[in-house]
Amino acid sequence: FTPSPLKGKKILVTAGPTKEALDPIRFLSNHSSGKMGYAIAEAARRAGAIVTLVTGASLESPSGIKTVHVRSARDMYDEVLKHYEEADAVIKAAAVADYRPETISSSKIKKTDGQLTVTMVRNPDILLELGKMKKNQLLVGFAAETDHLEENALKKLEKKHLDLLVANHASDGFGNDTNKITLYFSSGKKQAFERMPKKRVAEKICDALAGLFEMSGN
Ligand code: C5P
Repeated sequence: FTPSPLKGKKILVTAGPTKEALDPIRFLSNHSSGKMGYAIAEAARRAGAIVTLVTGASLESPSGIKTVHVRSARDMYDEVLKHYEEADAVIKAAAVADYRPETISSSKIKKTDGQLTVTMVRNPDILLELGKMKKNQLLVGFAAETDHLEENALKKLEKKHLDLLVANHASDGFGNDTNKITLYFSSGKKQAFERMPKKRVAEKICDALAGLFEMSGN
């Protein structure tokens, strides 16, 4: 038994949704609450890690954790890159918007009797980019899917050069205080868990990460 299995490790955690502005008043976003990412940041801290949390959620900042608030996916990307080189691991629990409105209107969009068409363009895939730039960092990604969970999880693990992927059914995790997850490791190992409070899920993810650090000899 090691009381501080992540002692001294620099861990970057992202949490919450991103918000993609349409005009000065409105944005497009998703239902991510940030609870899972915050629980992971706190569990990593309890396990001895030095944690930086980059978040799009407006939950209270956890104590003892450097917390940076961001809005859009591009803001999150910039902030994550600032901390990437020195990080020992990145856990990307954030639900990053894949698309943003092509233009942000500088004044409020007024309603008319007709339809409003908004062109959306792709955001950077932060985790994919981290995977391409990866040196010694361990990368942990999340997959929230409504269909073909395992197939998509395995694809993501490979495509994004991840060490560990946490898969949960989209209807299971969002906004709840519990989550039911399966861990997929790059080694091919798979570990399924019962439904648990997010605090316990976070501890399982940190345990898995500690195991990966041990195996990598770092
Ligand atoms: O491909 P998908 O979006 O389902 O992958 C989810 C994982 O990728 C999550 O860990 C999420 O934080 C990350 N991601 C990202 N940037 C995006 C989209 C997803 O970092 N634009």
